[in-house]
Amino acid sequence: MVETAPRIDQVVQALKGLADPTRLRLLSLLGHGELTVGEIGRILGQSQPRISRHLRLLAEAGFLDRFREQQCVYYRTPAAGPRAGWVRALLAAVDPEDPALRRDRVRMAVVVGDRGRTAAGQLGANAPPDPGDAGLAAVLREELGPVALGELLDIGTGAGRMLEMLGAQTSHAVGIDISSPALRLARTRVHSIGLSHCEFHRGDMYALPFESGAFDTVTIDRVLAGAERPVAVLTEAARTLRGAGRLLVVERFDDIEACTGANPLQSLRQWLDGSGLRLNRLRPCDLASGHHLLALAQHAN
Ligand SMILES: C[S@@+](CC[C@H](N)C(=O)[O-])C[C@H]1O[C@@H](n2cnc3c(N)ncnc32)[C@H](O)[C@@H]1O
Repeated sequence: MVETAPRIDQVVQALKGLADPTRLRLLSLLGHGELTVGEIGRILGQSQPRISRHLRLLAEAGFLDRFREQQCVYYRTPAAGPRAGWVRALLAAVDPEDPALRRDRVRMAVVVGDRGRTAAGQLGANAPPDPGDAGLAAVLREELGPVALGELLDIGTGAGRMLEMLGAQTSHAVGIDISSPALRLARTRVHSIGLSHCEFHRGDMYALPFESGAFDTVTIDRVLAGAERPVAVLTEAARTLRGAGRLLVVERFDDIEACTGANPLQSLRQWLDGSGLRLNRLRPCDLASGHHLLALAQHAN
């Protein structure tokens, strides 16, 4: 869809909405990651009703995206859309070493660190596997190549290790998971290493909240073996993949064997066949946490 440039009165109206020190601080803060009103209140040291009013004005003018995750509402600067370029240009014009912005960033690190520790505690025994699987990043680079990965979707993102490894190669990335504590942990880890263009949303891998053909790259990392219906997960993943897009699957060999009782290579092939995708490559690789399988697939045609 072609976006029409705003008229002068619309630009003036938008600039008026931005002409406020707290609102500029909010944009700068939310350009570094997704935060709730409560977290923003702790960072800025202002009351929630005041902050909510500023956030509402910015969101209504399109300068912030807003989404709900269970009882929490998160805000972030838009990754795409008519106002994303405005926000980028505006933030580039502000000195990042401005004392107020620097203080906000330091407080943000504390607040986000607290969130990460709480989320890790809530996950407890159900915590996703440790994301630090030495060697996987190098294997992924080998398999995917040094090319840009475009729009990326990571299904069952857990603590966000896939986006930690691949986020920098994407223009925009989304991690989806059913678990809110896992998402809080993922946000904390991925945004704290500067990958603020990575978003995290609660969603069901059997009914992904995206249009068909929305992504250039889809990753599914150690999710299928634990899924009740792996073929349905892959079929839904394939739906969101663009024509020439690539799907990357990583699974532990033993996990597939334990859930199918069959040869893991065979099982993964069958799951991918069942989804209608064409398997381009299937390779084993040994990582710190055990023997893994990596599969790359695309739409058949
Ligand atoms: C074994 S963990 C893997 C996490 C991450 N991909 C990794 O490798 O570190 C599986 C993840 O799938 C998520 N999950 C399970 N069922 C799901 C569903 N129906 N929709 C979305 N995510 C789901 C879990 O919450 C969990 O975070």
